[in-house]
Amino acid sequence: MSHIIAPSILAADFANLQRDIELVNRSEADWFHIDVMDGVFVPNISFGMPVISAIKKHASKTMDVHLMIVDPDRYIADFKKVGADILTVHYEACNHLHRTVQAIKQEGMKAGVSLNPHTPVAVLADIIQDLDLVLIMSVNPGFGGQSFIENTYKKISELRQMIEKSGSRALIEIDGGVNDKNAEKLVATGANALVAGSFVFRSKDPEQTIHDLKHLKY
Ligand code: DX5
Ligand code: ZN
Repeated sequence: MSHIIAPSILAADFANLQRDIELVNRSEADWFHIDVMDGVFVPNISFGMPVISAIKKHASKTMDVHLMIVDPDRYIADFKKVGADILTVHYEACNHLHRTVQAIKQEGMKAGVSLNPHTPVAVLADIIQDLDLVLIMSVNPGFGGQSFIENTYKKISELRQMIEKSGSRALIEIDGGVNDKNAEKLVATGANALVAGSFVFRSKDPEQTIHDLKHLKY
């Protein structure tokens, strides 16, 4: 299977959201990456349910929702209702991660767990079998347009080993600072999915940029 490209809607033009969603629909992207920030878990507020519903109305691809919020359990059913296909919570925001993951699956969504840059991969050893996706943050969550943290490669290798050893089917997704300089190495190291915000939407031709990321034309 070739790697998945997930453009981050956080970098889209919110005044022309439908236009940017249709651009992603037409492109070779696989998923819509949708960042929800609460101003508590991270120092920024993005958008909530009404905007996600509006995205869903036009989006023809998988809705990959990344929650950067405290106490995500409160909203699991609501995210299903507004159209999430994959729901990713932060390891650092969950006291009872196993319960949270089961609740996401019970709602009929794929369950993901995200790790901040300082959180070692090893904390997932006893839950990796239950996960559909692990999202490794390659910047500190909260903002688009930050620089990629090089330690990410080491985390991908460790996680890839853990996944293989355990027989887990979890995908490895990388989020933050993904661009033409690191995409190929990320995939070669073991990433299955690449999120890209600014690199796609700030480029001259976002559809072409998505194509290049998909085919690693660098
Ligand atoms: C950051 C978000 C990312 C962000 C990535 O907290 O989780 O998904 O949109 O943006 P870029 O690709 O610009 O780093
Ligand atoms: Zn994200």
